[in-house]
This record gives sequence, structure tokens and C-alpha cells, in this order.
Amino acid sequence: MQDIHDMYGRMLSRFQELFGTDGGTPALFRSPGRVNLIGEHTDYNGGHVFPCAISLGIWALAAPRQGTDRVRLHSMNFEADGTTEAPARGLEYREERGWANYPLGVLRVLEEAGHPLPAGLDLLFWGNLPGGAGLSSSASIEVLTARVADGLFGMGLQGVETALLAQRAENDFVGMKCGIMDQFAVTMGRRNCAVFLDCATLDFKLVPLNLDGFRIVIGNTNKPHVLAGSEYNLRRAQCEGALEDLRRVRPVKALGDLTEPGFKYLSGIIRNPVNLRRARHAVTENQRTLDAARALSLADLRTFGLLMRASHLSLRDDYEVTCPELDALAELAWRQPGVIGARMTGAGFGGCTVNVVERHLVSRFIRDVGAGYELQMGCAPRFYVADAADGAAKVRLPK
Ligand code: GLA
Repeated sequence: MQDIHDMYGRMLSRFQELFGTDGGTPALFRSPGRVNLIGEHTDYNGGHVFPCAISLGIWALAAPRQGTDRVRLHSMNFEADGTTEAPARGLEYREERGWANYPLGVLRVLEEAGHPLPAGLDLLFWGNLPGGAGLSSSASIEVLTARVADGLFGMGLQGVETALLAQRAENDFVGMKCGIMDQFAVTMGRRNCAVFLDCATLDFKLVPLNLDGFRIVIGNTNKPHVLAGSEYNLRRAQCEGALEDLRRVRPVKALGDLTEPGFKYLSGIIRNPVNLRRARHAVTENQRTLDAARALSLADLRTFGLLMRASHLSLRDDYEVTCPELDALAELAWRQPGVIGARMTGAGFGGCTVNVVERHLVSRFIRDVGAGYELQMGCAPRFYVADAADGAAKVRLPK
């Protein structure tokens, strides 16, 4: 859909077709996706992350329902799934509800937090954010649902509280033990800024993206990150295992509390060699994230790019969450002129890379890296030139 009026028009007529016009004019809300510049698999280890919200996202048209406390949800991206109908309260996870479990999980968590929906709700979604590509479509629809509920029913939710509730929906309702990064970035992101977040304290800074002359280019391997759920939870458990060993000799709260020399000194105590490598990634990646944020504030993009590359290598060798497709896309980018840095972004096992590319070489990057990847992998990647965008909010249509 070309522009916001066009999109709104199509969503509105679909909404009225599906749900009628009794609820009055529905309100429009938008939630972004996110791309993480650096700081991967550090959030649940009490370390730092450095993501930004992006202009690709999900929109919702929503209206309260009178005289019923049932919720109806429909996505224009999944027309074949039809409309899901469910009670507004006492919701439980049901496999057959598919994607609708994410928004419904948020309603359940809101209820548990003392914000039950006072009425029914009609919700229509449409997004241009690819799902299962490591750009946080789950966090986006979760935070969007919380924003809708708050916007329509005045729950008075604060930003960080919204992010935490959305994370809880994913952890407890959907069963994916994600950290806080995605929901936080999607809630607190700001136009032209990256979010530098300490995941242990939730202290954060909005850092202006000093990228004059450069663009952030996202490369989609078009390999969905299918293993992400189970392998992700396994990585968490392996880090926990390493931490337990370390606690036999030191009261370490989280791997993110350790410096690299401190970790080297203690690492002999970690018995399992796989857990040792997982923990080494968590510690070195946290340091790289601190260094990268500093480099960006000094406009030292060369250092920033080198840290991105080191991050990818650590995710490949120590954390083992890349795959041939992600490695190919990153390696092709490293050899391309005008590329400051490139690495996988998100949980891994498929999904996307993030690249910082000289503005005037972006088309060449897309052409050459795309052709090289297709030759190697037998399928074409997709590229998005991303702008750092605002967090989820109600949308006022421009006149
Ligand atoms: C997923 C999770 C995040 C984070 C990243 C890896 O996106 O949702 O919490 O752990 O993976 O950095």
C-alpha cells in the first residue's frame, strides 16, 4: 500500500466489511519493528543492547464493542486464517489460534495486571513488517495491542510498563523466553535514534544516529528463523548453566556484570565447554556493545563497523546461532565497497542481517550482494533501507 491514506482507506473498508459500522469510526494505531545494531543475546544475560525501532511495522484499526465482551481479531496479512473470536477475559493459549495468540496473550496479561478489558473489542491488523524474519513482528503486535487497549480504555500504562507486560505475554502465554530488548525498542524507540539499554536496570539513553552519508540496510535471507524458539530457550539454559558454575566461587548476578579480564580469570570454573563458549559470547558481546555506543557518539564509524563484524563472528563461532544463509549475506557485505559494518541481527537461525552502507553505494550494495547471495544460495534475498522510527502510538492521519 503506497501511502498512509491509501492504507487507512483499505483497512477501513475491510474493517467495516468484517465488523460493521455500529462501533463508530475505529481508531488507528501503529507499531514499528526493530533492528538491533549490536548487542545480541545479551538482554537476558543482564547486558546491554543497541536497537532502533524501524519504519516497517504493523497497523491496527480498533473499536470497542458494546453489549458484548467478546474480542474479534483479523489480519489482512493472513486472510486465509479468517477471523478469530475469543472472550475478552480469562484467555488461554490455543495452538489453533496461531498468530492471534500474541495479541490475546497481551489481553490476558493486562487482565492479570489489573486492567481487564471493560468491553469487547474489534481489531484489524495489517503490516509491512516481514514475520519470522528477526525484525520483531511478535513484539510489534504485542506492544501494538497494549497501546490499543490503553488508547481505547484509558488504562494509564507507562512506556516501560507496557514493554514489560508485552514481554510477559510472550514469556508466559506464548512460551518464548525472550529478553526485554524487542518490546523495549518497539515501545521506547524514537525517530532518528537508537536505544542504548542496560537490560539489568532498564536505564536507557536515546542516542542520535550520527549516520550522515550512511544508511542502515536490512538484508533478509528469506530463511524463516524456524528453530528460533527451541534453540533460543536452549541458549538461555546454557548461559544459566555457566552462571551456576561461576557462582560456586563468586556471587555473580549475571554474565553481563563480568568484564572480559574478569571472565577469563574465572572461566576455568565452567565445566561444560559448550556453556563456556556461550558465556564468552555474552561477556564479549556486552563489551562490544558498550564500545560501539561510545564509537557512535564519537562518530567513529570505522570502529563501529569492526565491532559489528566481531559480533557476527562471535555469534557464529561461540554462540552458534548463525546459519549458512546469514553467514553468506554477512560475508558478501564485508567484501562490498562502501560497507562500514555488517552482521546478523535478532535471534539468528535465519532472518536478517543489518548493514551500515555509504548512502551513494546503497543501490550497488543491493544489486551486488543480492546477486552474490542468489548465486550461492539459489534464492534471492530481500533488502529494506530502514529509518529509525518512533515507538508504538496512536496515529493521527496527516491532512
Ligand atoms: C530475540 C529476543 C530478544 C533477544 C534477541 C537476541 O529477538 O526476542 O529478547 O534476546 O533475540 O539478541
